[in-house]
Amino acid sequence: HIYGCAQVRKIITQLNQRENEMQAFDYHNPTHIVFGPDRLAELDNLVPQDARVMVLYGGGSVKKYGTLDKVLAGLGERHITEFSGIEPNPRFETLMRAVDRVRADNIDFLLAVGGGSVMDGTKFVAAAALYKGDEVELLGHGFNPLPIEQALPLATVATLPATGSEMNMGAVVTHQGGKFPVMSPRLFPTFSMLDPTLTYSLPAVQVANGVVDAFVHVLEQYATYPVGAEVQDRTAEGILKALIEVGPKTLATPDDYAARANLVWSATCALNGFIGVGVPQDWSTHMIGHELTAIFGIDHAQTLAVVLPSLWQARKAQKGAKLLQYAERVWNITEGSEDARIDLAISKTRAFFESLGVKTRLSDYGVAFEQIDTVVNALESHGMVALSETGDLDLEVSRYILEQAF
Ligand code: NZQ
Ligand code: ZN
Repeated sequence: HIYGCAQVRKIITQLNQRENEMQAFDYHNPTHIVFGPDRLAELDNLVPQDARVMVLYGGGSVKKYGTLDKVLAGLGERHITEFSGIEPNPRFETLMRAVDRVRADNIDFLLAVGGGSVMDGTKFVAAAALYKGDEVELLGHGFNPLPIEQALPLATVATLPATGSEMNMGAVVTHQGGKFPVMSPRLFPTFSMLDPTLTYSLPAVQVANGVVDAFVHVLEQYATYPVGAEVQDRTAEGILKALIEVGPKTLATPDDYAARANLVWSATCALNGFIGVGVPQDWSTHMIGHELTAIFGIDHAQTLAVVLPSLWQARKAQKGAKLLQYAERVWNITEGSEDARIDLAISKTRAFFESLGVKTRLSDYGVAFEQIDTVVNALESHGMVALSETGDLDLEVSRYILEQAF
C-alpha cells in the first residue's frame, strides 16, 4: 500500500516536472526569405516560368509608391491577373471575389504585395480556391490546422513589418462581425521578399502599429510560465530589445536603413514560430483585441496596446515568474519588491507604446464603459470563454480586463 502511494507520488512529481520542462515539438518552416533592397527583379527566378499568376494587393499604396510596377516587371511575360482592394482586416466576401477570379482564370500561383491584410487574404484565397465544400467552413477551425490536403502555392512581397504573416502559416479573416484565425502548414509562403526600403512610405501610425504588434507577438509566446526554454526566452528578449531600440529610431528617421532592416527582421522573427516552439503560449490579448477591432474598428495593434497592460495587471499571479524575468532582462529592473518590479515593468511597457504614439486606454478610442457588455457578449458567441496559457481566463476575467483598460 505504502509502495503504491510512493509510486503515485513519483508519477505526480514527474508530471509536475514535465509541466516545467520544454514541451516536445516539431519545427518546420519552409519559407524562403529574400531579404535586402532592390531585389524585385529576382521574382523572375523565384516564380515558376509557366505560372499563371494572380497579383493581390490592397487599397493602392503599392501603386502609388511604385512597388507594383517593379513586381509586374519582375514577373515578365507570365500571364498575370491583378486583384486589388483587399481592405485592412480582410473580409471574407472580398476574398471570395478573388477566389472566383482565380477559378475563372485558371490561376496557379498567388503573389501578395502588401501588409498583413493582403498576405493573410492571399492565404485564405489559396486555401479556398481548391476547397470543395462551403468556403465559410474554413473559418471554423480556430487555431487547429484546416482539414485540407491542398492549397495554391503563394508568395509575398511584404510592405509592412508587423504581423509575421510573411513567414508563418496563419491568417485572420473578418466575417459577420468576427475575426477568425485560419491556419495550415500548406499556407506558408513559398518565398517572401523583404525589402526594408519598400516600407519607407509607411505613415508613422502604421510603423508604430507594426512595432507594437511584433512586440506583443513576442510577449504572447513569452509571458506565460517558465519551462526553462533558454534559447526561446533569450531570443524573445533579444527581439524585444531590438524593437525598443529601432522602433523609435525608425519613427524619428524613416529612411534610416539600418533601423528599418532590423525592424523588418524583428517583426518576421517575432512570429515565424521559432521562439514559440516547446513553450506555453497565451494569445488572450489577441483574442480580446480581435473583438475590439471587429466591433469598433480599432486598428489591430492599438487593441493590443490597450489589452496587454490591463491583462498583465489582472494576471500577475499566473505570469509573475516570467514578468519578473522580463522586468530584469528587458528593462533592467532589479530593485524593489517583486510586486513593485512587476508593476514597473508593466508601466514601462505601457509607456513604450505611448511613446510610439499608440494610445493604451479604451477611452482614447472613443469606447464607452457601457459597451464592455457588447465585447463580452462577442467573446462568448465566438467561444472565447477559456483563454490563456492554461485555459483559465473566463468571461468574468475578460470583463475585468476590459474594465481596467479604461
Ligand atoms: O491597402 P493599402 O493601400 O496597401 O494600404 C495599407 C493599409 O491601409 C497600408 N500600407 C501597407 N504597406 C504600406 C502601406 N502604406 C504605405 N506604404 C506601405 N509600404 O497600411 C495599412 C494597413 O495595412 P494592413 O495590411 O491592414 O496592416 P498590418 O500589416 O498591420 O495587418 C493587419 C492584419 O493582420 C492580421 C490582423 O488581424 C489584421 O487583419 N494579423 C495577422 C497575423 C498573422 N497572419 O500571423 C497575426 C497578427 O496578430 C494579426 O492578427
Ligand atoms: Zn498581432
